[in-house]
Amino acid sequence: MVGLDRLPLPLLEWFRDNARKLPWRNDPTPYHVWLSEIMLQQTRVAAALDYYRRFLEECPDLETLAALPEDRLMKLWQGLGYYSRARNLQKAARVIVNEYGGTFPADYEAVRALPGVGDYTAGAVCSIAFGQPVPAVDGNVLRVAARVSGDGGDISSPEMKKRVTEAVRAVMPLHAPGAFNQALMELGATVCLPNGAPLCETCPARDFCAALTQDRIAELPFKSPKKPRRVEERTVWLLFHDDRAALRRRSERGLLAGLWEFPNEPSGAEPLADWGVSPLAEEYAGQAKHIFTHVEWHMAFRAVETASDALPEGWVWATLDELEGVYPVPNAFDGAKKAVLKRLGGAV
Ligand code: ADE
Repeated sequence: MVGLDRLPLPLLEWFRDNARKLPWRNDPTPYHVWLSEIMLQQTRVAAALDYYRRFLEECPDLETLAALPEDRLMKLWQGLGYYSRARNLQKAARVIVNEYGGTFPADYEAVRALPGVGDYTAGAVCSIAFGQPVPAVDGNVLRVAARVSGDGGDISSPEMKKRVTEAVRAVMPLHAPGAFNQALMELGATVCLPNGAPLCETCPARDFCAALTQDRIAELPFKSPKKPRRVEERTVWLLFHDDRAALRRRSERGLLAGLWEFPNEPSGAEPLADWGVSPLAEEYAGQAKHIFTHVEWHMAFRAVETASDALPEGWVWATLDELEGVYPVPNAFDGAKKAVLKRLGGAV
């Protein structure tokens, strides 16, 4: 890739003056770096800060994380989405406690083999926490590299990722691998912004960036169009009895595995009789959409006052307090939760 060899010096200088002050940068232990990088994978820095602080308050070390009850773990992650990240964190913490005596492994291949750790996270931990000269290529780095080099390859393709990884490895300053990787990401996150809106005037690469000097900002990076998300129409049943609402646990596999939800079924189903629920009154209670990576839920809420407290095995009647503090209900059900809070007289 052309042009990347001119990047390290001005980039490191820029990073020294412009790095955001982030809590995991104050004390970059392997545990802190790993936790922050997992949180930041699908979450913006601003949104992750509070989660990071609360997570470390409850799990200050790997041993505590390894032993944390599942519902506490899910509660700590509630709202961040992609809950398998949290489950893999705990699985990896258990591997480190059981197989490495509680000391984070310092070997790239050993880190890469931990549950939930891919090339990017292994690179970030090994370079930032251990000072090893390995690349950490995320979406920000792909965008920066595509623009600076003028490479018009598809940034969602494995070939482009490989090309960028090797180009970063080739120019990596051996005295500052962690700072260099973070600087690349930081430039992507704060200056080399996506969607055709980069702040080129302030960029340390402005003299040699191919996208800027060749007037190709609008076309770089190139990304092939994604296939459209599948839309699922669902009815969410808000079952009420004695100032409580019914919740059930999702299956251990698939989307939002193991979290709690208001019972819901594809639109058109009439499941109340199957659930053994006798409605006293039933009415429409609003609607909402939730967008996941590959699927989109279009939900209509039906509120049902039930004649008895009968529910299928394993379901629970939750009070308002329990809904807030005990059961991890994912954001996809925020609209439904609001409708329930309104009905049960809580804050909305
Ligand atoms: N985004 C994700 N990880 C980051 C890091 N270490 N520095 C800057 N931005 C990031």
